Amino acid sequence: MRLLIPNRAHVPATGLAKWYNLPFMSQEAIYPPSPEFVSKANVQGMEGYRALYDHAAEKPEEFWGELAEKEISWFEKWNHVFEWHPPFAKWFVGGKLNVSYNCIDRHLATPRKNKAAIIWEGEPGDQRVITYQELHRLVCRFANVLKSRGLKAGDRSIVYMPMIPELPIALLACARLGITHSVVFGGFSAEALKARIQDLDAAVVITADGGWRRGKEVKLKGAVDEAVAECPSVKDVIVVKRTGSEIKMQEGRDHWWHVLDEGMSEDCPAVPLDSEHPLYVLYTSGTTGKPKGILHTTAGYLLQTTMTMKWVFDLKEEDTYWCSADIGWVTGHSYIVYGPLSAGATTLMYEGAPDSPNYDRWWRIIAKYRVNIFYTSPTAIRALIRQGEQWPNGHDLTSLRLLGSVGEPINPAAWEWYHRVIGGGRCPIVDTWWQTETGSILIAPMPGAVPLKPGSGTLPMPGIVPEVIDLHGNPVGPGKEGFLILKRPWPSMIRTIWGDPDRYESQYWARVPGAYFTGDAARCDADGYYWVLGRVDDVMNVSGHRLSTMEVESALVRHDAVAEAAVVGKPDEITGQAVCCFVTLKKGDYDHGKLGIELRQWVAHEIGSFARPAEIRFTDALPKTRSGKIMRRLLREIVTSHTVAGDVTTLEDMSVVTNLAAQHDDD
Ligand code: WTA
Repeated sequence: MRLLIPNRAHVPATGLAKWYNLPFMSQEAIYPPSPEFVSKANVQGMEGYRALYDHAAEKPEEFWGELAEKEISWFEKWNHVFEWHPPFAKWFVGGKLNVSYNCIDRHLATPRKNKAAIIWEGEPGDQRVITYQELHRLVCRFANVLKSRGLKAGDRSIVYMPMIPELPIALLACARLGITHSVVFGGFSAEALKARIQDLDAAVVITADGGWRRGKEVKLKGAVDEAVAECPSVKDVIVVKRTGSEIKMQEGRDHWWHVLDEGMSEDCPAVPLDSEHPLYVLYTSGTTGKPKGILHTTAGYLLQTTMTMKWVFDLKEEDTYWCSADIGWVTGHSYIVYGPLSAGATTLMYEGAPDSPNYDRWWRIIAKYRVNIFYTSPTAIRALIRQGEQWPNGHDLTSLRLLGSVGEPINPAAWEWYHRVIGGGRCPIVDTWWQTETGSILIAPMPGAVPLKPGSGTLPMPGIVPEVIDLHGNPVGPGKEGFLILKRPWPSMIRTIWGDPDRYESQYWARVPGAYFTGDAARCDADGYYWVLGRVDDVMNVSGHRLSTMEVESALVRHDAVAEAAVVGKPDEITGQAVCCFVTLKKGDYDHGKLGIELRQWVAHEIGSFARPAEIRFTDALPKTRSGKIMRRLLREIVTSHTVAGDVTTLEDMSVVTNLAAQHDDD
């Protein structure tokens, strides 16, 4: 088999972790579930897990078909479960359903009708509890608003909002009508917003004046004005009044949500949509400067997010569930909105920062609402560890029964702290590996079944067949590092990259014929447990947020002073990686101190504040191969170990590297 790993042909088949400066996790401790947890779990013991996994492996169509019938409400049943014309998959072909109906309407005929669907807390301390029935009214009204603006199935909307209830309401209203939504995280800049609106040809932007974070207003409407000025496709901008600050409203184009919403009918039937109708597009960083619009469709996505809610979070009717992500990222889509609501859960949403007004805000919220399941990121855990145990210890966290982690590898020390201090030693931790592209959790423990090993995502979900391979596509065997691939398509998988099926094919399916290339390095140990180590492409993971090195480089070279730029992720104790930029300047006199600050600000302006580089290093030249490619690997070594030990035979000018390495020692 011929395997193509562009730009990486020189990577040794093993030793990947060292090559990419990825962490090596210890495999010492094992935490089996307590008999008490097992006795109440949705999936009990390894036999329970094995039965599901084996069924899915042996008869995938029967497995998913049975679940789809039992777990999803259909307007029309599908003709067949699966169609695979690699790399394009269709699930539940010919079926008709509606995601909004599944997340709301079907619960209204059950005791869930007056159950809290969403519990929301704003950063200033305001709160709202929205029952399923109330959610139905709010979603129908806003769907009627969208209809009244002439929007219909197949149109695209952009949602650029703070973490307020109107955000999930907007998503569910779009889904109700078949309007494909794309949420742009509120931390993205006007430039990034514009690129996404244009790529989608969106007809409407749904936004707010601003939101609250660390006691300050994060303004949003100004960025929308700047972006939409160059987006002729946008006919309407709908604005929620959240902060009440002064904003400009453009006559004819901009409308207040509450004004349009007033007097709207509370009846809006959900539109029956095809199983493969585009539910949403979510942009994520790839290996080039241009973000990829990941497309998720209706039935397969809904089914697999619903099932993983039950399998991984062991969801019970009485649980209060809280995922601390922002809905601007995939975790929020799948595990704040669609998965929990489809499963009939109470999902908690918090608007602001974990340290506002103090480092115990999250623990206060858990104690206040008696949260049972809490899902967050290793970066957040590490940041809170640094503040000390006195913050969580001051609160009653005994309602918690299950903890989750997502977005990046969790180091065993952070795992142990989370387990001991937050979980009181009694809560299993589900370390969930997945990606924007996978739509739902693919590798994670079922907590009443699978013994945990800190730092490992443990075992694959039913229907998921991972493998760790070397450069030539051969399995590396137990305990060895290699590239993580997925050998079978799954219901919630990416369908294509919006407007770019060729890129979809080449990015994910062309490297190992017939298999999905994750872009992650991993090890599978002798027990079959997966240890995902991190990215092997030019994607950084900063605080669990994906960011492409190329995206930051393109932003930098758009600045007048910059000639060339190379960006690498530098290991960071809290955020996992931090953005480190090597920059060469055009001819001229520069104050490096001032320019460094300006360039950091520039990147924040071009991409968003979360992409602001930690470090800008000026250099006379960048290390390149004879063919002119920047050798990022060497730069990675410089920022990690401050020395260069790897193979440098293809380097054009070795002095560049020695200078860069030496420069650090001078600092
Ligand atoms: C990384 C977030 C180790 C991985 C849901 C993946 C993880 C990328 C884990 C996807 C985990 C996510 N252990 N690494 N539990 N979860 N990753 O698209 O590198 O924002 O490829 O999706 O995050 O990031 P994305």
